[in-house]
Amino acid sequence: MDLPPSIGLPNGPRIEAPKGRLVNIAILGGTGKEGAGLAIRWALAGHSIIIGSRDAERARAKAAELREIAKKLPIVGHTNAEAAELGDVVVVALPATGLQATLPEVASACRGKIVVSTVVPLTFGGPRLFTPPPAGSAAEEVQALLPEATVVAAFHHIAAHELAELDEPINCDLLVCGHDADAKETVAELGRSMGLRSIDAGPLSNAGPVEGITAVLATINRRYKIKNAGIKITGL
Ligand SMILES: NC(=O)c1ccc[n+]([C@@H]2O[C@H](COP(=O)([O-])OP(=O)(O)OC[C@H]3O[C@@H](n4cnc5c(N)ncnc54)[C@H](OP(=O)(O)O)[C@@H]3O)[C@@H](O)[C@H]2O)c1
Repeated sequence: MDLPPSIGLPNGPRIEAPKGRLVNIAILGGTGKEGAGLAIRWALAGHSIIIGSRDAERARAKAAELREIAKKLPIVGHTNAEAAELGDVVVVALPATGLQATLPEVASACRGKIVVSTVVPLTFGGPRLFTPPPAGSAAEEVQALLPEATVVAAFHHIAAHELAELDEPINCDLLVCGHDADAKETVAELGRSMGLRSIDAGPLSNAGPVEGITAVLATINRRYKIKNAGIKITGL
């Protein structure tokens, strides 16, 4: 997409001049708050977005709703399976409970692609908020379900609430975990394209602790009656 540097839209957010490589990004579960928030931030940065859903009509409706936020945004809607086919990078923005039902049907479409897991296995209302699967983390479960993809874990601490506040920068660092340095750099660049400081947080085996921090942030949000507890790494 060819955009002039920083377009100010009347009554709307600003579309920034694209920074770095532009990517077709499929978002599985993109009808939810987190997926939709990532979609709009990335679309405003110039990337093309395919919203995925179990229901193609729901995906198209969400894409149309997001396109209303700023005109000419490249956002379309499809089923999760079609979205995975169309995306160069596939983002999993599903609840942890939806992974087993959804990912096997997209496994061949994800072959050879970078798959970003935003998934945090949280259980609300119980004694323990962070409830990782036997694989150790949701990201490692995603990797087991998509063995021919390169999974990177990221965006767990970037709240949907903050993503939706388009006039404000996101006040949180992006921690990125994965086994493949090039895949991590691609995801770091996608983070930078929405204004985040991206930090390499090590291999995919660190995804469990990284996902677990979200449980701590959710607890802090409740204790202090706020919505936007985040995390910043010092010393860099
Ligand atoms: N919300 C946040 O602030 C936040 C922050 C960081 C990370 N995350 C993580 O991001 C992921 C998405 O969060 P969210 O709040 O957007 O979740 P959500 O609204 O509960 O779910 C997102 C979408 O997933 C689909 N879905 C729901 N249940 C499903 C199931 N059982 N099987 C298959 N698909 C299902 C739905 O889309 P369709 O009905 O259209 O298929 C839904 O719109 C979660 O793993 C969460 O831990 C969230």
